[in-house]
Amino acid sequence: MAAQHTKLPWWKTGPIYQIYPRSFLDTNGDGLGDLEGIRRKLDYLQDMGVRGIWLSPLYPSPLYDFGYDITNYHDIDPVFGSLETFKLLVREAETRGISLIMDMVLNHTSHLHPWFIESRSSRDNPKRDWYIWKDGPRGPSGKGYPNNWMAAFGGHAWTWDKPTEQYYLHLFTEEQPDLNWRNPEVQKAMLAEMQFWLDLGVKGFRLDVINYLVKDAQFRNNPYHFRMTYPRRHDLQHHQFDRNQPETYEIVHRIRSLMDRYAGASEDTMLVGEVYPDEGVHAPDLAATYIGIGKDLLHLAFDFSTIYTSLTAADLHSVLQTWYGVLSPSAWPCHVLSNHDQSRAASRLCAGSDSEAKKRVLAALLHTQRGTPFLYYGEEIGMEDGVIARKDLQDPLGKKYYPFHPGRDRSRTPMQWTRESAAGFTNGRPWLPVNRDYRERNVEAQQRDPSSLLHWYRDLITLRQEEPALLDGSIEFFETGLQENVLAYVRRKAGSEVLVVLNVSGQTRPNPIRRGGTVLLSTHRKPQGTIEHDTRLAPWECTVYK
Ligand code: NOJ
Repeated sequence: MAAQHTKLPWWKTGPIYQIYPRSFLDTNGDGLGDLEGIRRKLDYLQDMGVRGIWLSPLYPSPLYDFGYDITNYHDIDPVFGSLETFKLLVREAETRGISLIMDMVLNHTSHLHPWFIESRSSRDNPKRDWYIWKDGPRGPSGKGYPNNWMAAFGGHAWTWDKPTEQYYLHLFTEEQPDLNWRNPEVQKAMLAEMQFWLDLGVKGFRLDVINYLVKDAQFRNNPYHFRMTYPRRHDLQHHQFDRNQPETYEIVHRIRSLMDRYAGASEDTMLVGEVYPDEGVHAPDLAATYIGIGKDLLHLAFDFSTIYTSLTAADLHSVLQTWYGVLSPSAWPCHVLSNHDQSRAASRLCAGSDSEAKKRVLAALLHTQRGTPFLYYGEEIGMEDGVIARKDLQDPLGKKYYPFHPGRDRSRTPMQWTRESAAGFTNGRPWLPVNRDYRERNVEAQQRDPSSLLHWYRDLITLRQEEPALLDGSIEFFETGLQENVLAYVRRKAGSEVLVVLNVSGQTRPNPIRRGGTVLLSTHRKPQGTIEHDTRLAPWECTVYK
């Protein structure tokens, strides 16, 4: 399905679908998803209307952080296939109008990356300064840490390295040493790695923790930040000095210049940044700064406020309105409800009664907002978090903080394709247990059922691509319905208006828009039917009309 408005770059015209490759489809029986599995499902993604695929890391990795610890940035880990399969995937995706974007982890490498092996080998190795090395405050004996920075995955962010008697910095696990982005050689080397993928036809990157790249030049202590609910000492700090330094924006600008060289006439390449705020904090304003005003930075940045919100019209409205409000008029928003680090929205926001109806509301919301929707694999069939026994935990975060923090395995369980054993994901033993509901909830069943969630996603995606007002029109909310838990808004473009009403409640509610029209798509009404100005909305009704 081609978008009508070809003047828009691909990344504005359709959803971008995140694949966690280990969990998508296994074609060689080792229990791990692979590139060939993704290739075989390209038709499925094309039918859905997907315009881009974000591939979580595929590079060789010793898996201390499941691929976010990389030993070689210009190769494919053999568990996923080879560079040859990758090239084939790029080509075959392209013929279906689907662009690929790679996950690029710039902040840190694996401790087994040859650069770090060299760097730690001696204090005068030419790569020593590629990473961040420091004496302890009491000299080379190493007693006491260089400062109070804590690692996201437990303990201090500094590890003492005996052979050369200094600490190195790692904001995640100790097997993920942070690169020194103040070093121009590091910048050059990493940009060359990105160029490698651009030369293979990749159209963009999702930039992992992009706001972490440069650290405070004086390595000052982070201020204390009081909070009740977090088990990690890392979250008891405001990350003022280990993130968001002004020099990071200069680097992002350089990366953008590289992308622009590959962009072609139609803004063909794209950068989307993971801008990570303090845990649990809404920081759309921070994300917005990385899109840049006056200087070309990222094309898109994630605002994770939607991940920390609740399913009420008022909260959704406040999060979205704030997001639009902090973006410069020329910035293009994007929206995300789930990813590989968080509990799936289907569980987080839709648990309890009417959960399937709630999922439809979220889908309608995502595809009728202004900006690019990001989908996380399985979202389109309503996949929920898995229940993972302690013995099956894989994620270092989950293992470290069990039972206080559930870890991230719950949102990485195998894609549910069929009702066959292991949900059609593998003939072998899946690397994480398949969710219990796979016999009822799977792609095959939902493809057959025209009233399924999968069909609802497809219909929404098609509608967004067909209606110019939905694709790139303005948005204005009707605040009158919020008290009644109805989210209503109008999308406008060149004299055409599309109205969206979402009843975010299990009760019948009045339509706050008080205007009638012709139904384009609805959970409760027939397309092309009439909706009256005084219509009452059914529980959880989603209707798009004009
Ligand atoms: C953010 C990624 O999304 C997460 O999965 C990873 O563990 C950390 N960055 C470290 O790379």
